Amino acid sequence: MQKINISQGPENVSRLILGCMRMPALSVEEAANVIRTAYELGINYVDHATCYGDGEAEKRFGDAMAHTGINREDLVIQSKCGLRFDKQIFDWRKSNILNSVDEILKRLKIEYLDVLLLHRPDLLYDPEQIAEAFDELESSGKVRSFGVSNTMPMQIELLKKYVKQPLKINQLQLSLEQSQLIDQDLYMNNKTTDMSVMRDGGALDYCRLNDITIQAWSPLQRGMFKGMFIDNPEYPELNKVLSELAEKYCVAKSAIAIAWILRHPARMQVITGTMNPVHLKEMAAADKIDLTHEEWYQLYLSSGKFLP
Ligand SMILES: NC(=O)c1ccc[n+]([C@@H]2O[C@H](COP(=O)([O-])OP(=O)(O)OC[C@H]3O[C@@H](n4cnc5c(N)ncnc54)[C@H](OP(=O)(O)O)[C@@H]3O)[C@@H](O)[C@H]2O)c1
Repeated sequence: MQKINISQGPENVSRLILGCMRMPALSVEEAANVIRTAYELGINYVDHATCYGDGEAEKRFGDAMAHTGINREDLVIQSKCGLRFDKQIFDWRKSNILNSVDEILKRLKIEYLDVLLLHRPDLLYDPEQIAEAFDELESSGKVRSFGVSNTMPMQIELLKKYVKQPLKINQLQLSLEQSQLIDQDLYMNNKTTDMSVMRDGGALDYCRLNDITIQAWSPLQRGMFKGMFIDNPEYPELNKVLSELAEKYCVAKSAIAIAWILRHPARMQVITGTMNPVHLKEMAAADKIDLTHEEWYQLYLSSGKFLP
């Protein structure tokens, strides 16, 4: 699998990331099988969060790693904190960030995290507290790189005023069906569609300008976890184009949907959420596909967009 370098962050990382949100549903043996399959496919980056199964995803991963034969150093292990379903709050306070990392390391059974992301903004966040937390985590060696998720450009600018560590990752939602990250650039200033609404403060261009790697989450989902758009009768045109291109490139439709994101010149990573080794192999084939300019637009338009 092709590798990229994250500016001022982990180097030689795969374009596909194994997202572990759905890992709590697996046994330890099944989890080990998924991690091993991903690694053999060249996927050397994994994504976690404290809230996935309320810690169960990290725990399952930590237990499973021992059965994989993979060295910890050969994986880039990322987790996120700040979203607390248990208390129904977002929490970027220093105490929560520090406690979360200690708990993450225990559950994952590792000594350090390669990357820590702040999951989704706490409306009450105080950047000075975050700066102090990051300093402690860096100097203690518990975290090597830092970033954010679902975070607006101006929020990142505010963080940068206080935080001295580079923030070079932003995890954002993007799929053919949930393409608001890119729609606004095309439909700008168009009163006839709400696709022109800027919902994220220009996150795509901001990230590109600042060498921030975008990690696209839920690449196959419609809405927010409403199931896949692939083979969904509500998306006949999109599925027709996906089928035609899947046939042309001799891959599964899911690989085409992933290749559509990888084709974007922002050089994003894609976080896949499958826990099925067969599906994972199918999607890894996306790495070898280079969609043409025309095919990229054909897919985009077939997902319910129009040329303004
Ligand atoms: N930063 C954030 O706020 C945020 C939010 C959500 C997610 N994430 C990250 O993004 C990752 C991916 O999210 P996601 O799980 O929603 O992504 P996804 O890859 O779009 O969806 C995966 C789901 O699709 C199913 N699926 C069914 N048929 C499939 C096929 N043929 N090929 C592939 N998948 C198929 C999978 O089931 P099977 O397992 O049976 O294949 C799984 O339930 C998460 O694990 C997490 O790491 C981040």
